[in-house]
Amino acid sequence: MANQTVVVLDFGGQYKELIARRVRECGVYSVIKPGNTDLDELRKLDPIGFILTGGPDSVYNDDAPRCSPELFNMGVPVLGICYGIQLMAYSCGGTIAPCKVSEYGRTNVTVDTSCVLFKGLEAKQVGLMSHTDQISVLPEGFISAAHTKNCPNAAIACDDRKLYGVQFHPEVENTPNGTEMIRNFLYQVCGAVGDYDISDYETLMIEQIRRQVGSERVILGLSGGVDSSVCAALLAKAIPGQLYCIFVDHGLMRKNEGDEVEAAFKDRALNFIRVNAEDRFLGKLAGVTEPEKKRKIIGEEFVRVFEEESRKLGDVKFLAQGTIYPDVVESGANKSANIKSHHNVGGLPKDMSFIGLVEPLRGLFKDEVRKLGRSLGLPDNIVNRQPFPGPGLAIRIIGDITKEKLEILRDADAIFRQEMEKSKVKADQYFAVLTNMRSVGVMGDFRTYDYVVALRAVQTTDFMTCRYAPVSHAVLSRTTSRIINEVQGVSRIVYDITGKPPATIEWE
Ligand code: XMP
Repeated sequence: MANQTVVVLDFGGQYKELIARRVRECGVYSVIKPGNTDLDELRKLDPIGFILTGGPDSVYNDDAPRCSPELFNMGVPVLGICYGIQLMAYSCGGTIAPCKVSEYGRTNVTVDTSCVLFKGLEAKQVGLMSHTDQISVLPEGFISAAHTKNCPNAAIACDDRKLYGVQFHPEVENTPNGTEMIRNFLYQVCGAVGDYDISDYETLMIEQIRRQVGSERVILGLSGGVDSSVCAALLAKAIPGQLYCIFVDHGLMRKNEGDEVEAAFKDRALNFIRVNAEDRFLGKLAGVTEPEKKRKIIGEEFVRVFEEESRKLGDVKFLAQGTIYPDVVESGANKSANIKSHHNVGGLPKDMSFIGLVEPLRGLFKDEVRKLGRSLGLPDNIVNRQPFPGPGLAIRIIGDITKEKLEILRDADAIFRQEMEKSKVKADQYFAVLTNMRSVGVMGDFRTYDYVVALRAVQTTDFMTCRYAPVSHAVLSRTTSRIINEVQGVSRIVYDITGKPPATIEWE
């Protein structure tokens, strides 16, 4: 990128992406690099500043992640956050010690308003704290610029060397003025000019795509989800006529969804190809009840259909994917347990003979992808779509999948979504689940023995954790009455009030 760049150095904290996003929200391009990245490699990025993230270690641990102490002598401004402030202080000759009282959660912080980080802010602030160590002796040349009841060095500053640190987390919403503090660092210390916005990204990417693919053809697996849709729109603008979008309808979409995706794309100049593959998917899934097995079968079959279609197109040299920045960062750093194999239906078939991969959204966060989609003229119903799992309704039907169950779930789910859309409830994802349980009911004068449908609505920003949405009784009652009256085969409706953890958002 030709833009000014801030490098976020990752020391294992959970908020690295949030820091990078905040920087971009302030109009400055940011990238995340491992904390121990070689200084020569960092110099090549010509950064206007570094931000050191938090992390779970103590700087005195033998295997604690560290950057070269020379980083602090490069003359480039540095802001250390949480573990980052401790690493900065330690590397510059200060001392770190365990806190007498560890601080967790929203904490009152008194800041020195003459410090450039806090310019324009009141002295009384709230900051999210989460630490068991803190700076006990400041390095030479540093002053304390904030304190809390139990932490005398809640912020430190060395104006001469342009080194700053905060023990709290300015990147999270629980630090209400945190973005202002980051903005001060960027604009007052690093000399940011605010040269980054999404339209620059679009122009740069269009040039890059053209350079990369020349006059060759490009194939893209289009699911109708936000990422692949925005990728399609961008490619269509960059290389009109050269793009082929394959939409595999696996028969596990929501009500009318396949037709909606087709309607949204078929008239655009992206050679839209819809493959109706319901029978082969349902055939492979017949009798399968185990969630991971369902996912694997769907992933594999998707690749097979995609391969067949691309062979029909003949000699296509490039494959495009809607990979976004969190996918890139997570795939390098995610050592967490495999809870579910998330199958990204835009995934790369390994044995295909493409000479290049086109991933124009690799540098963007989800909210930026949505912004780009809007500026490319995609309709709101595509740009604001909720996440929908690649395996679709297969993982919202507990137990084996049949056409009859799919019909019941599609109808119940459509009613719930309509009622939610009419209501004012704030929920980030909502859907119905067909449990594998049947229960006794009574309709008219007859006994029924039909399915139990569960409704799920959650509030979340990152989809890594969530809480259930407080959907009103009125909405639940209307939904229940409509499902019972309009959908045959349902005898009972329940509302899922579990958060994540301990549950996950999807039931399988
Ligand atoms: P969980 O159920 O893991 O879901 O709490 C977190 C988010 O991911 C979506 N999800 C998936 N997305 N393929 C996907 O592309 C999958 O296999 C998959 N499983 C879950 C889910 O809808 C939620 O937004």
